[in-house]
Amino acid sequence: MVPLLNIAVLRFDSRSEIRHNMVNKITVVGAGNVGATTAQRIAEKELARTVVMVDVVDGVPQGKGLDQWESAPVEGFDTRVIGTNGYEETAGSDIVVITAGIARKPGMSRDDLLNTNAGIVKSVSEQIKATSPNAIVIVVSNPLDVMCYVAKAVTGFPRERVIGMAGVLDTARYRSFIAEALDVSVRDIQAMVLGGHGDTMVPLISYTTISGIPIRQLMGEEQLAAIVQRARDGGAEIVKYLKTGSAYYAPSAGAVEMVDAIVHDRKRILPCAAWLEGEYGMNGLYLGVPCKLGKNGLEKVLEIELTADERAALEKSAQAVREPMSVITL
Ligand code: LAC
Repeated sequence: MVPLLNIAVLRFDSRSEIRHNMVNKITVVGAGNVGATTAQRIAEKELARTVVMVDVVDGVPQGKGLDQWESAPVEGFDTRVIGTNGYEETAGSDIVVITAGIARKPGMSRDDLLNTNAGIVKSVSEQIKATSPNAIVIVVSNPLDVMCYVAKAVTGFPRERVIGMAGVLDTARYRSFIAEALDVSVRDIQAMVLGGHGDTMVPLISYTTISGIPIRQLMGEEQLAAIVQRARDGGAEIVKYLKTGSAYYAPSAGAVEMVDAIVHDRKRILPCAAWLEGEYGMNGLYLGVPCKLGKNGLEKVLEIELTADERAALEKSAQAVREPMSVITL
């Protein structure tokens, strides 16, 4: 009997060790395309014990949540996915991803969504503050940088716990276009797109490398300029194709890369929207900058050297965030 008991104890220990690399609960607010795809990716990567999808539309989060949970035996994940219209089930979440809001239609800019989505993100943030006061919040709703400000102002959470997803997406688009043009693996493209999530975003050409090789050694200026422009227009390119909505596969992948960095305490260096407190000579706004993400959320904003052109572009991008921010009433 004694050896058997030992085996049982050992099994229990090793299982709790495996469980260590997931958090207890992650909430995804919004069960639209971005939210549902985000929940699915989190479940398939088993980043949490439970994923709760919450949305105001009756039946949609419940139906999509149940449908995802029913895929678990086939996909082989144990993360329980549930959908709800209320915040009780979300209580005590470790991480909350906010995707709620309306999406762009062809011809609309992200700023056209401002007032509607500010109201939505405000009410979501009030609920999060009341039910998950210790959560790390990742904002995905547009216009991204301003919605981060709304979430931070309404929750009152410190900047470490309110971070925006845009740079990972914009950088992923830029990297995919470079990989395609050079016919090399996407894995070997290192790059960072900073600034606001809009037409003024700032792809850092000076820091773009292919396995450490500066991109200008492998690509001419004209082709590079075309890729930069395509990355800037990346969201609109998808909206134009879809006609009735905006991108969601790449945006959800971007959000989940940030969730993964936090859950696994990876100390990843990723471009994220962070509340600036003097970095890059700026204060009191969200802007895409290089960030370290770990178990505490935003663990550091990295201040890197920029060329005069890049610095000027970042200032211009900051202005494009300040303007819509100034007309918001909370
Ligand atoms: C995009 C939207 C979601 O960039 O902002 O696709």
